[in-house]
Amino acid sequence: MSKETIKIYDPAHKGLRNAMSLFQLKLGNTDFKSKEDVSHLKSIGHELFILLDDHIKNENEYVLPFLESKCEGASKHDLDDHHHIEILEKSLQDKLLQLDGTQTQEWGYQFYLEFTKYHAIYLEHILEEELVTEPLIHQHCSPEDIMDVLTKINTGIKPDVLFLWFKYIVPARSLEDNISVLKPFKAAVPTDFFEIVMNHIKQFVPEIQYQKLVDGLK
Ligand SMILES: [Fe+2]
Ligand SMILES: [Fe+2]
Repeated sequence: MSKETIKIYDPAHKGLRNAMSLFQLKLGNTDFKSKEDVSHLKSIGHELFILLDDHIKNENEYVLPFLESKCEGASKHDLDDHHHIEILEKSLQDKLLQLDGTQTQEWGYQFYLEFTKYHAIYLEHILEEELVTEPLIHQHCSPEDIMDVLTKINTGIKPDVLFLWFKYIVPARSLEDNISVLKPFKAAVPTDFFEIVMNHIKQFVPEIQYQKLVDGLK
């Protein structure tokens, strides 16, 4: 296995870019007096923050300590970024919790601007992970080491969080990339569970793409 073929961050980052964009869009068109609109916004936000929390936890607990063990000092930049990002997220999550349909459009606009600033900072952070941290990992860790870390992350994930990741990652990646993840997953889990996962995915991708995915997994 060539280590260049393992894209450590690609699935999660594409899923997060998808979820953040959907939340940003919804935040921009929400009528803050409409309970229905607010409830829709809260639902996307709730899912987004579950994924953001899970991602930062996986990097802080698995990826970065592993890199640090191979290259002293290499994890500091991302850990510092994470600390700053978590402070910004706490403020956004508090606002999301407050939302109950009694807020004004101006309150919503300020929330929109605060999220936009966070979104820009987060996009810069994950791009740096792809351009700087990922090459460092490939430089210092073997493909087997990398697969070990990824397996630890994947086996520790709760099913409801796994389903959420699939919801946002699968529509954001190419057919080939999705097949390369789902094929070994299919081989590793019971058939019933794999069928549940595929029925879940079906809700979030266009029919034609879903059919190509099913064909590719045969
Ligand atoms: Fe990160
Ligand atoms: Fe990341």
